[in-house]
Amino acid sequence: MRGKSILLIIGGGIAAYKSLELIRRLAERGVKTRAILTKAGGEFITPLAVSSVSGEKTFQDLFNLTDESEMGHIELSRAADLVVVAPATADLMGKLAGGLANDLASTTLLATDKKILLAPAMNVRMWQSPSVRRSAQTLKKDGVLFVGPNDGEMACGEFGPGRMAEPLEILAAIEQALGAAHIKDNAPLTGMRALVTAGPTREPVDPVRFLGNHSSGKQGYAIAEALMRAGAETTLISGPVSLPAPGGVKLTRVTTAREMLAACEAALPADVLVMAAAVADWRPDFAANSKLKKSTDRVVPLIKLVENPDILATLAASSNRPRLVIGFAAETDDVVENAVAKRARKGADWIIANDVSGNVMGGERNRVHLISAKGVEDWPEMTKTEVGAQLAARIAETLKGAA
Ligand code: CTP
Repeated sequence: MRGKSILLIIGGGIAAYKSLELIRRLAERGVKTRAILTKAGGEFITPLAVSSVSGEKTFQDLFNLTDESEMGHIELSRAADLVVVAPATADLMGKLAGGLANDLASTTLLATDKKILLAPAMNVRMWQSPSVRRSAQTLKKDGVLFVGPNDGEMACGEFGPGRMAEPLEILAAIEQALGAAHIKDNAPLTGMRALVTAGPTREPVDPVRFLGNHSSGKQGYAIAEALMRAGAETTLISGPVSLPAPGGVKLTRVTTAREMLAACEAALPADVLVMAAAVADWRPDFAANSKLKKSTDRVVPLIKLVENPDILATLAASSNRPRLVIGFAAETDDVVENAVAKRARKGADWIIANDVSGNVMGGERNRVHLISAKGVEDWPEMTKTEVGAQLAARIAETLKGAA
């Protein structure tokens, strides 16, 4: 990243204070940041604060004669290697999606010939409103990059997606956007689509309880990131985990197995499917609408379980079947034997089997066996990131060989 320069547009939101931290982090990595502070952004942080951390002039007005004579807005938009909008408000997203330009930020966004990366931040209801959904869809179609928003508690007291990504996550997305040109050169999966699932599913018992499991999502997230780095257009369908969204990957969050199946079906077609999620095999027959209470006569409620759809088997048998279908087999006993049987039963091409009797779930390392029609390969123990990279390399070899 050293030597690169960023044009950072700071929109009006409480998350604007995090942009100061972002500028500092960029500076630590030798990246120069010039900032535009919108009028609304200026209600949250001052141009003096921005200039103090960036060491550069902070631009605010479109019709400022001094600024225009020193550096016109067209030049400002093109001098940088990447344009980053953080926080990206509903207003800025709407203007860019609709082609409006009535201030310095929106004019610069239309005038740039560089990639644009947005870090949205807004109230959860605003983020979910049909108009903002439309803006986001249009912008994605136009090739605008996104990082976040994350789920979490908001300054307004509500909870849900809408929190701006953390400065380090934005930094990773910037790094990736800047490096994308270089990565493309040795990206064997360019032009291919990958669908990855990760994390547990949660099956509600009542509004406050659920059946779940210990899956951390780390292995699935590492695989999605590795496939994206290898050039694949990657969609990650994730159950509830506390991991940040990997930059450059399209992330859909779900809760239950049935939601995960629907999200996978909506994301097809794909060239490769990697089912790393720990999908709950069963769910309570029905979820109570109100909290189950302890009765005075100490009768314990019986929860009747029904079987969840098998996502892997369903997608492997569908008319939209990806060319390469990869399942996981988390086993505590007879790891390889069970996984070989699972491969046949579920119609997968490969099964990645791992022994989860130790502290694999939530840990950083993994020891897996790759089971295919050719037999069983035992991989040495490595980090989950390395497993992701090795798997992406094998997927690329196989898909390219078959292309
Ligand atoms: N899987 C799935 N849908 C389910 C259950 C599992 O798609 N309802 C997928 C997992 O994502 C994984 C593979 O199937 O890729 C194997 O999961 P695992 O839990 O090990 O297998 P089970 O089907 O639960 O078999 P068993 O209970 O015999 O271990």
